[in-house]
Amino acid sequence: GKGEYDHYMLKEINNQPTSLANTIEGRVEDGDVAFEDLSPGTFDGIESVQFVACGTSYHAAMYGSQLVREAGLRTEVLRASEYEATTGPVDETTLTVAVTQSGETADTLDAVRTAADRGARTLAVTNVVGSTAAREADDAVYIRAGPEVGVAATKTYSSQAVTLALLSQRLAGDVPDATPAADRAAMLEALTDLPQHVEAVLESTRAETLAQDTLDSESFFFIGSGLGHSVALEGALKFKEITYEHAEGFAAGELKHGPLALVTEETPLFAVYTSNGDEKTKTNAIEAQSRGAPIVAVGPDDNPLVDVADAHLSVPETHPVWAGLLANVQLQLLSYHAAKQLGRPIDKPRNLAKSVTVE
Ligand code: M6R
Repeated sequence: GKGEYDHYMLKEINNQPTSLANTIEGRVEDGDVAFEDLSPGTFDGIESVQFVACGTSYHAAMYGSQLVREAGLRTEVLRASEYEATTGPVDETTLTVAVTQSGETADTLDAVRTAADRGARTLAVTNVVGSTAAREADDAVYIRAGPEVGVAATKTYSSQAVTLALLSQRLAGDVPDATPAADRAAMLEALTDLPQHVEAVLESTRAETLAQDTLDSESFFFIGSGLGHSVALEGALKFKEITYEHAEGFAAGELKHGPLALVTEETPLFAVYTSNGDEKTKTNAIEAQSRGAPIVAVGPDDNPLVDVADAHLSVPETHPVWAGLLANVQLQLLSYHAAKQLGRPIDKPRNLAKSVTVE
């Protein structure tokens, strides 16, 4: 049941310190990543990694794909529903990774079946043991988030992103010119603090006040760059899905290529950043601010954007690879509180299903 919580969504958001600890448990040792179900050498011969997913899982896949790219492998992330229409050739050097919480999403199953038919190796990254994706793919890795009841994916997103980050390092172990070991060690070491950093966000968040202050607006915009871009897209999806308010996410630098025309004092802009270096996010947020938009900085304290922003949703200092996931927890809470203040049926938004088994 929901226990002390009004909604499953809030329960699941608050469960993240535990679910993330489960995701990580036993998988990082001495700066190395090991997955219980993947024997050494599983990825021998793989030259490129293709992610297929839908919705929130697509945003987690974007996160993972960027880390795979930074680790030195060729990679792409594709909307599963567009796979048939857009994909190029694959062969046995391609690893097609289906990222699907339920393991039952029709579009994702369809994409991974097509990839397998064309000769790719396949891997399911899923929450559900024995799901169709897990059974059909050559290999499976479990995100271990525990059951998620709310239609809005929250804890499963965080566990997917962490699992894919770990996968990127496991894959990097198999390619010669991958990320230097020292950098990898710092990232993996910082991961052990992630559950307690999420706890700190949950305890100190000002998302409820922020939701109150911004709710009477026309549209809600979310921007970010790099890993922050995928978090901005996820923040907007969550917001529209449960509040029924218009929300959109953009790559920070794209704002001036169209969306800026919509920016007014009625369009708060949430700027997600992961480290001190997110210059694009800062300049574009300031551009929107000069058109009257209230700016909310979402990220660590040590960032120049904090000084100019109208409000700040703060997250603990950590390795830039994990900061976006902490920012996302703030945005999950923002969406939750906004939807609650609007009296929406948070756990079961209209027109949506937990698992989309039709194409
Ligand atoms: O079960 P899946 O991860 O394959 O589901 C994919 C999407 O339908 C899902 O992530 C959806 O976007 C979320 N429920 C939105 O919160």
